[in-house]
Amino acid sequence: MKKLLILLILLFNNIYASNYGELLFYGNCVTCHFKTKKVSAPSIAEVKENYINAFPIEEDFVNYMTQWVLKPNAETSIMKYSIDEFELMPELGYDKLALEEIARYIFKTNFNKPPK
Ligand code: HEC
Repeated sequence: MKKLLILLILLFNNIYASNYGELLFYGNCVTCHFKTKKVSAPSIAEVKENYINAFPIEEDFVNYMTQWVLKPNAETSIMKYSIDEFELMPELGYDKLALEEIARYIFKTNFNKPPK
């Protein structure tokens, strides 16, 4: 009985954690970053492609993206061509822990995959 309970808690925690990043992403980023369409900003699929090429390791990807979004900076941008096209992303005062969840979700998600 105790084992089952622990298993259930672990399972619930996992589901909660993965959906949490997704929720935060949809709540905070999609107004500008559409999944695959370029509108007022590069699509998140395009951002991810640039980031994964520069930072193939999850921790590096998450750390760099979190720091960058906390304080967008043209000098440390890895997508300078996007700044020329759209101007620098504004500083939006996001919470650091929330950004880490979002970056982890972006790292793990294939945005080009058609929805089931
Ligand atoms: C108000 C619109 C807006 C919102 C909201 C927004 N972005 Fe952006 N973002 C932009 C624009 C425009 C660019 C392209 C110019 C640039 O790179 O600065 C960009 C670029 C980026 C980049 C590329 C950085 C680089 O190296 O140049 C990342 C990563 C990013 N956004 C992540 C996020 C995340 C994560 C969120 C949600 C937490 C978010 N953005 C919300 C407008 C936005």
